[in-house]
Amino acid sequence: MTQRTLVLLKPDTVRRGLVGEVLSRFEAKGLTIVAMEHRTIDAATADEHYAEHVERDFYPPLRAFVTSGPLVALVLEGDEAVEVVRALNGATDGRKAAPGTIRGDLSLSNRENLVHGSDSPESADREIKIWFPHL
Ligand code: RTP
Ligand code: MG
Repeated sequence: MTQRTLVLLKPDTVRRGLVGEVLSRFEAKGLTIVAMEHRTIDAATADEHYAEHVERDFYPPLRAFVTSGPLVALVLEGDEAVEVVRALNGATDGRKAAPGTIRGDLSLSNRENLVHGSDSPESADREIKIWFPHL
């Protein structure tokens, strides 16, 4: 089933010059870029995006990280796009993520893990409205 999902190439991806590397993996998989924007977000947008995490202990440093510089937000479309992107991203902790995944190959951190992907079709709808309200 064709789906859309919200992907973030987090500030570490931009800082490390890995935007092309990461984007190419999504493109090579066959996913279509429906929208894409280079943007620096404020704390309010971070809180809205990470609403499920704002009360967690790890959230203050996460908010500092995601607002620390430009990121690239995109909407990808394709068959089972939500699950496919999560599989390409790999486990949250880059130290434990499987080789072959974006995080497994390129991240050594539980926080600076390069990418975000919506965790369900419902989350994708919610997040796409936040980032690309015109879609
Ligand atoms: P994401 O939402 O970014 O796609 O990542 P995820 O679903 O794999 O992980 P999630 O549990 O939603 O966590 C969101 C982001 O918070 C940071 N994090 N830090 N214990 C920690 O220090 C910790 N746990 C999570 C990561 O940047 C994670 O991607
Ligand atoms: Mg998540």
